[in-house]
Amino acid sequence: MMLKDIQKEILKLKEEKDICILAHSYQAREIVEIADFSGDSYALSVKASEVSNKNVIMCGVRFMAETVKILSPQKKVFLAHPDAGCLMADGADKESISKVKEKYKDYTVVAYINTTADLKTICDVCVTSSSAVQIVKNIDNDNILFIPDCNLGNYVAKRLPDKNIKLIQGGCPVHAGVALSDVYKAREKYPNASLLVHPECVPDVVELADFVGSTSAIMDYAKNSDEKEFIIGTELSIAEHLSYELPDKKFYYLSAELICKDMRLTTLMDVYNLVKGKGGAEINLDEDIIRDARKCIDEMIRLNHK
Ligand code: 13P
Ligand code: SF4
Repeated sequence: MMLKDIQKEILKLKEEKDICILAHSYQAREIVEIADFSGDSYALSVKASEVSNKNVIMCGVRFMAETVKILSPQKKVFLAHPDAGCLMADGADKESISKVKEKYKDYTVVAYINTTADLKTICDVCVTSSSAVQIVKNIDNDNILFIPDCNLGNYVAKRLPDKNIKLIQGGCPVHAGVALSDVYKAREKYPNASLLVHPECVPDVVELADFVGSTSAIMDYAKNSDEKEFIIGTELSIAEHLSYELPDKKFYYLSAELICKDMRLTTLMDVYNLVKGKGGAEINLDEDIIRDARKCIDEMIRLNHK
């Protein structure tokens, strides 16, 4: 079967079976094309709370599918590829964070949304890369324990100097792998290009960027800018989407190593099989986990609109 035929069949079956397909911006073009919605983690969370379909397929990684289940527990939620995890989320467990929390009793615990549902149950509020500064600013406590991404935490702390923000060791190895030397090399090779990076990159790299933002914010910046050349400092898929969508502009990789293996696991065939009733992983969470984890996701949406 040709790719277009597979896509057509998915679109037909998802209507028949009342399925909503959500895709993170890092997903492949052929998946983004058949999704009802694609975007960054914040936009996906908001969509997850609004979806009216009985079934949801998340093309992304496990914490994103868990967020959908937490916000819509009555729906059947599937992760398109059962092994798609997130190195950052999987690297931070509830037990070790509980121990850190003990030391910072009067602190508000702010969790990056790239965390497991289990860990969210002991946190006060979630943030995403596009909402973190606004949300931390709106928290009614100056003492913040920010987990688990010290790079995003550092980015927030620099923008909110009046807050006392404690960081822990943790983050995304894919983005943290970008070195200062990558920036120097790319700047030298592409002197007319603007550098757009994700705040999961290390502070030295973020400092040298012309724009810092979430996956969607980077894409919006490139679309709305009059500039013609951009160096993209996040997963390679974003530069690929932009090159396709904006053929008159030029997009370069900040580092060819910016590959998230988990985000790349999902294929169009996984989605095809799932709409046919095979494969994927249904997300099942205990009621008490849903109840406790939901508080910090609801708080994220409330504080971002304050
Ligand atoms: P965004 O919220 O920017 O989409 O980030 C998600 C992510 O995992 C980036 O690595
Ligand atoms: Fe997780 Fe990093 Fe992959 Fe994003 S790029 S999903 S933070 S491992």
